[in-house]
Amino acid sequence: MPELILTEAEGRVGRITLNRPEALNALNLQLAHEIVDAALEFDADPEIGAIVITGSAKAFAAGADIKEMADRSYASMYLDGPFARWDEFTALRTPVIAAVAGFALGGGCELAMMCDVILAADSAKFGQPEINLGVIPGMGGTQRLTAAIGKYKAAELMLTGRMMGAEEAERAGLVSRVVPADDLLDEASTLAETIASKSLPVVYALKDALKASQNSGLAEGLRFEKQAFASLFSLNDQKEGMAAFVEKRPPNFTHD
Ligand code: HXC
Repeated sequence: MPELILTEAEGRVGRITLNRPEALNALNLQLAHEIVDAALEFDADPEIGAIVITGSAKAFAAGADIKEMADRSYASMYLDGPFARWDEFTALRTPVIAAVAGFALGGGCELAMMCDVILAADSAKFGQPEINLGVIPGMGGTQRLTAAIGKYKAAELMLTGRMMGAEEAERAGLVSRVVPADDLLDEASTLAETIASKSLPVVYALKDALKASQNSGLAEGLRFEKQAFASLFSLNDQKEGMAAFVEKRPPNFTHD
């Protein structure tokens, strides 16, 4: 039984709710596995025509779990990193809607970007703050954010690590639509029901075609990103950046 997510099916819609509130839904390996397993189960069920993935009012997900990663080595990140099963998630045939309220940072923003539609509450905050931890995005951010909002805006966000609110994210093209926070789950359900009412094979074909539009060059980019992300775990600045977060103090980077 999953411990860090809640799942429910209502009609033809499957819902996955990240439920690790004490860590703002930070994606540790257990949570990542539970999300992927639940999504695969819905995907295999022909009665399910759309999946909604959501978090809490405060956080969709505040990133990969920094405390779990902080002391890992290059070798362990590369061989068995938190990337492990996201390829299975992005290979789902069923459309996935990310219903985002609160923080969607780092791996949380990247998880939202692995979905087909991003519905944002007006409280949503998106960002790739990895640079402040002495690393770079590692679950697709350098590729998918750039594809979504263009190189210059993506570069400014990733180089500064700043957050972007829902309105700015919509203007930039990162989110499909912004809705009042109180309406987020209802709007997501209505949207999912609409999608789930379409022909499943047609939806699958459309999703494949949409993927093809995004994928030229992406596989190579993701391979590069994975290698680069893992390699940063050989830096002192990665150790310092993550230790500083855990100890609640500003990092003192030594650029080595
Ligand atoms: C581990 C986390 C966490 C994270 C929050 N927490 N984010 N734990 N990993 N990513 C924990 C905090 O340590 C704290 O635990 C509790 O959740 C509440 O967080 P606070 O910081 O007290 O909340 P608040 O002051 O409201 O600030 C919210 C926040 C901040 C701005 C979102 O928590 C934050 O900056 N989080 C880190 C965001 C981030 O850098 N994400 C990128 C991660 S790297 P305690 O025990 O103290 O109560 C990444 C790489 C992806 O995602 C690639 C992987 C392959």
